[in-house]
Amino acid sequence: MTGAIDEQIYREMEEYGSQGWTIIDNLVPDKMFDEIAAACRRVKAKVRAGEVDVYTHYGDPGEPWCIRGLIAPDFAEPVFADFLLHAPFIARARAYLGQDLRLGWIDLRTNTHHEDLPGGWHRDIGGKDLDAETELGIIRKPMKNLRWYLALIDDDCLQIVPRSQHRPRTAEERRVLNDAPHDDLAGQEIIGVKAGQVIFWDGNTVHRGNMNKDVERLTLAASWQKHSEDDPAVEKVDGRFEWRLKAEVRAALPAGLHVYYDRWRALQPA
Ligand SMILES: [Fe+2]
Repeated sequence: MTGAIDEQIYREMEEYGSQGWTIIDNLVPDKMFDEIAAACRRVKAKVRAGEVDVYTHYGDPGEPWCIRGLIAPDFAEPVFADFLLHAPFIARARAYLGQDLRLGWIDLRTNTHHEDLPGGWHRDIGGKDLDAETELGIIRKPMKNLRWYLALIDDDCLQIVPRSQHRPRTAEERRVLNDAPHDDLAGQEIIGVKAGQVIFWDGNTVHRGNMNKDVERLTLAASWQKHSEDDPAVEKVDGRFEWRLKAEVRAALPAGLHVYYDRWRALQPA
């Protein structure tokens, strides 16, 4: 990396670290953007038609809102693996997480067509009604993954309470997260991401995603994971990623992704 790129990433990291997200223009070249957008439209059409379903989250049957398995051979869309390996993403993953990475995830977030899909307020930390000390202990742990969205269409779904990743939930947030996840929260902001922009954001923030059936959403979500040689194996495969265990999935990946895939695979039960 050149010094200029380093400085840009450091500025992004400062913003991310402060408010909980950073939005960047021009990280994905036009040609890649067009290829990704076309691939996402094909994927959505195939899933909605019932032609392919590797692992999909549905509202009602036939109404997908999160489509996984994009790098599986079933979709035959190699651009998604290229996207993960795109140098600006690798550079940022290493800046945030350290040199050693392993495969994170990639999925397509899209609106259901038959009903609105309002997501409830939460943090991505598991656990329900955590006391302040426990919650702080979790959100202050070193970062394990870096996530980002690429909007293929302007996307106003994400809402975040800025800077909430630095503190335990307030009394109001405790009430809402526990009992009324669709209520509005003091300080909430709609984090609009324009088509072509990339947002890196912190899942430790208090956040929600609101999808509207009449507003098309087509946003690619991806992540890299931090890797350490002494990371413990998982006891049970995360059901959302079990499809990745199939030999044909690895065989279909470009060679450049194999080291990252293999690090993930080595932590799964045989
Ligand atoms: Fe979340």
